[in-house]
Amino acid sequence: MELCVIEADGIGREVIPAAVRVLKKVAQVEIHTAQAGWDYFEQNGTPLPDETIALAKRCGAVLFGAAASPHYPVEGYYSPIVRLRRALQVYANLRPTRYYPVPAARPGVDLLVVRENTEDLYVQHEELSADQQTATAEKVITRVATERVARMAFDLALRSGRSKVTIVHKANVLPQSDGLFRRVALEISEYYPEIFTDELLVDTAAYWMVKDPLRFDIVLTPNLYGDILSDMAAAWGGGLGLAPSLNLGDGVAIAEPVHGSARDITGKGIANPTAAILSAALLLRYHWHQPEVAARVEEAVRMTLKAGHHTADINPDGALSTSAFTDKVLENLGK
Ligand code: NAI
Ligand code: MG
Repeated sequence: MELCVIEADGIGREVIPAAVRVLKKVAQVEIHTAQAGWDYFEQNGTPLPDETIALAKRCGAVLFGAAASPHYPVEGYYSPIVRLRRALQVYANLRPTRYYPVPAARPGVDLLVVRENTEDLYVQHEELSADQQTATAEKVITRVATERVARMAFDLALRSGRSKVTIVHKANVLPQSDGLFRRVALEISEYYPEIFTDELLVDTAAYWMVKDPLRFDIVLTPNLYGDILSDMAAAWGGGLGLAPSLNLGDGVAIAEPVHGSARDITGKGIANPTAAILSAALLLRYHWHQPEVAARVEEAVRMTLKAGHHTADINPDGALSTSAFTDKVLENLGK
C-alpha cells in the first residue's frame, strides 16, 4: 500500500501527521510526501507541481490536508485540490456523517452523501456579458458521469449493508439537466432490486436533513446539491473538526478532511485531528478494502471521545492538544 501525503497549508500540517501516525499503527503503508498549496505557490510560483501529480498517480492513494486559497483571483494560482481531483479522475465524493459522542452531534445519525464530483455547475463555464449586466453559468450533466456515480452509490449500498438510496435533484424546474440525472440514476437502480430507491427534490431534502437526518441512508446527488447537503449533514456529525471525506474513482482515491486550513488556529497545536483520522479510515474502508481495520480506527476515535477526551473546538474546558488527543486515540487502538 502506497500513500502520497500532501499536508499543504495551515492546520493541514498539524492534522495530517496525526492521521499518518494512526495509519502507520494499523496498516503496512509506505508514505511518500509531496508539496502543494498556497505557501508552496508563494515560494515556487505554482500551487501544484507536476511531481506531485505524478507521485499521486503512481501511489493511487492520496491524503490531502487543506489548501489556503485566497478569496480573490491571484495570477498563476488555482485551487490545487480541485486540479488534483480532476487529474486523478476521482469522480465521486463520499461524505459520511455518523454519530460520535460529542455534544453537537445527533445520536443515531448514519448517512452517506455520494456526490458527483466532475461536472454540474462546477465545470466553471461562467460568462459576463459585455455590458456586465448579465452573468450566466453552464450546468453540465452527462449520462456517463451520472451512470458511474450512481453505480458507485448502489455498489456501496450493497457492500456496506445499507438498504436505501435517495436520489436528490430538482427535475421539476430543470427537466433537461436534473431530469437526465434523475432518469439515469433510476435506470441504474433497476440493477439493484435489493436496495430501496426513492427520490426527493433538493429543497425538500434540505428540509428533511434539518428536521430528521435519521431518515437518510445513502444520498445520491449532482455536484452542487451534494456540496450543500453534505455540509448541512456535517453539523449533525458534531462539526467540521469531525467531518471526513473521500474522493473516489476506479482504483484511485483522495482522502481529505472537509475543513480548510483554519488560519485562525494555525500553529497553536490545538486543531482537531479527528476529521483527518476518519478520512484515513475511509481510505482503508473504500480504497484499500480493509473495512475491519477502518472500523478499528473509528472505534478508537469513538472510545477516546466517549472517555471525555477532546480538542478545543468540541469544548475549551479540559481540551487536549492535537498530539495529546492523537496519543489517546493510539492508546485506544491498542485495546
Ligand atoms: P475552515 O474550515 O478552515 O475553518 C472554519 C472554522 O472552523 C475556523 O474557525 C476554524 O478554526 C474551525 N476549524 C476547522 N477545522 C478545524 C479543526 N480540525 N479543528 C478545530 N477547528 C477547526 O474554513 P475557512 O476559514 O472558511 O477557510 C480557511 C481557508 O481554508 C481558506 O483559504 C479556504 O479557501 C480554505 N479551504 C480549503 C479547503 C480545502 O483545501 N479542501 C476546504 C475549505 C476551505
Ligand atoms: Mg463544501
